[in-house]
Amino acid sequence: MAVYRKFIFVCTGSDCKKNGCKGLLKEAKEVIKHDDHKGKYKLIKTKCMDFCKSGPILVYNNEVIKRCDKGKMKEVLNKG
Ligand code: FES
Repeated sequence: MAVYRKFIFVCTGSDCKKNGCKGLLKEAKEVIKHDDHKGKYKLIKTKCMDFCKSGPILVYNNEVIKRCDKGKMKEVLNKG
């Protein structure tokens, strides 16, 4: 049976790096390793997504989350 995982895209372009995407990636890794999220998500690093001024950028479920932090990320993941 196929395993379906949801994708989480995090921009690692230069402006988002300046705005702390590395910290966001680290937090995202921790969150998706957590028991109730285990195996449900795939984290993808992307190049610039053209929202540079509002970084760090996270895209989940066709939704762009600007100035993303751990709190916002958990909120969108819990929405489903
Ligand atoms: S560097 Fe992240 S959107 Fe441009």
